[in-house]
Amino acid sequence: MVSWLKDAVFYEIYPQSFNDTNGDGIGDIQGIIEKLDYIKDLGANAIWINPWYDSPFKDAGYDVRNYKLVAPRYGTNEDAKRLFVEASKRDMHIILDLVPGHTSEEHPWFIESGKPIVDADGNEAKNEFSDRYIWSDFWLGSIAGHPYIGGECDRNGTYMLNFFKCQPALNYGFAEPKEKWQMSYQDEEPGKTLEAMMDVMRFWLDMGASGFRVDMADSLVKDDDDKKSCTSKIWHKVREMLDAEYPEAVMVSEWSNPLLAINGAGYHMDFYLNHIGNGYNTLLRDHESEGEDRTYFKKNADGDITRFLTDFIPKYEGTKDKGYISFLTCNHDTPRASRTLDESELKIAYATLLTLPGVPFIYYGDEIGMRYIENLPTKEGGYTRTGTRTPMQWEAYADSSSEGGTAGVGGSSAGDINMGFSTAAPDRLYLPIDPEGPSVREQQARPDSLYNTVKEILRIRHAEKSLNADADFEVILGEKDKPFIYRRGEIVIVVNPSEREMSFEANVLIDALSRSEKTIGLDDRTIYKTGSIDIIEDRLVVSPQCFVMLR
Ligand code: NOJ
Repeated sequence: MVSWLKDAVFYEIYPQSFNDTNGDGIGDIQGIIEKLDYIKDLGANAIWINPWYDSPFKDAGYDVRNYKLVAPRYGTNEDAKRLFVEASKRDMHIILDLVPGHTSEEHPWFIESGKPIVDADGNEAKNEFSDRYIWSDFWLGSIAGHPYIGGECDRNGTYMLNFFKCQPALNYGFAEPKEKWQMSYQDEEPGKTLEAMMDVMRFWLDMGASGFRVDMADSLVKDDDDKKSCTSKIWHKVREMLDAEYPEAVMVSEWSNPLLAINGAGYHMDFYLNHIGNGYNTLLRDHESEGEDRTYFKKNADGDITRFLTDFIPKYEGTKDKGYISFLTCNHDTPRASRTLDESELKIAYATLLTLPGVPFIYYGDEIGMRYIENLPTKEGGYTRTGTRTPMQWEAYADSSSEGGTAGVGGSSAGDINMGFSTAAPDRLYLPIDPEGPSVREQQARPDSLYNTVKEILRIRHAEKSLNADADFEVILGEKDKPFIYRRGEIVIVVNPSEREMSFEANVLIDALSRSEKTIGLDDRTIYKTGSIDIIEDRLVVSPQCFVMLR
């Protein structure tokens, strides 16, 4: 297992919206460099940057036109190099977003691939890229179960799509070809696609990247079985390449099936995404339940941690010595948790996520409780995701239209227009700011803020080996309507997100702390607390909205 992951905490940056240093209304690499100290100071020592490659941006950069070139709107490859150097000086790691399954329709590979493969005399006229994408040999008909498109190129045939219309699927072959235009994943041409993708990986790893978040990692081989056996074999080759050539490099998959992604495909980490029906989903936003909101971290919810544990524990047990499950505060595809949880609820939710086993990811702005903005017009293919992608709010809101500005809570200088994100005119911003929303400045100034809670939990996480990604994890008490108690190494954590006081037999906690005497000095053992716990007549009494760490 790559050792730096044990103490890694990632911060996800959507580069469009993080920090604009050249006043064009959109974030840039220099903006990230200038905020490295902020990120490190918060307690994150690794960064995932969403695609920063040249692109027509019909899907926010997940439609890559040139895998080896930074999009001019973010800067240059020289800026990328500087970022890697600056991060490394601070002992920080940067991973990029690898989009292996599709390119933009404007990628030169695709333009070449769309050229006729038979000349006017009926002779074969294939070029190097003819088989880089998945082409049928008909112009009308269907590619069973797959989206496809015709009428776009001079080539006789239709091509398969991976996501939006602008994203043709790269050819990694089929598990079991059934038509003559389908290739096997073991054929030479799909093999060349993989080589090309590994070449992209080497390019950025050589420049200083520490690895990749991998987009739609399970989607490479078409008509693969439920276990994604063929796709896994492909990732295994990639993992072997990394182990041999870049042993410190890591990959985290957008898969949300750790048993397959980690055990099967050889990923170092797999995201636990908010898929309907999974355990993580019940913690922050419960899309499942109709009517009543059962989100575990809501103070008026039913306190049923079992729905999380029954899903999580087998995944954790099944992968624990091989890789890490990654909890996210949210990501660029998901409504921010602040849509369902208020600040007091978020504090307990994030404190819990950041102390569970595995490698956690914090989405930019979640540390200050940035809001999900409802009903924003779609931007760069964002649709409902757009509300999660608004500019980072560094400074309190100052109304730049009134003379001298009106500094918001926490005080800000009159120069802080656009809440410190950009000096562009507000109507030129990538997306609007949220004047009513929180700011870094206000959150840093208030001792009991979400920001200061996250920072303190991360400080403890880095100081205590017991909170390393791979340190022991054991559920001490995981029942409905009871405090949730778990052990990490030598630390025992008691959680009660609800607005109700809860109690349980004190012996459960005392045993977990490995002490037989009943009068344990809880105060002496407390490393962190919000809310309180007490032992009254053999009962452990846990206050409403409580998160306590004991040694
Ligand atoms: C998943 C990415 O997270 C999302 O933003 C993107 O639109 C799709 N994959 C397609 O690449």
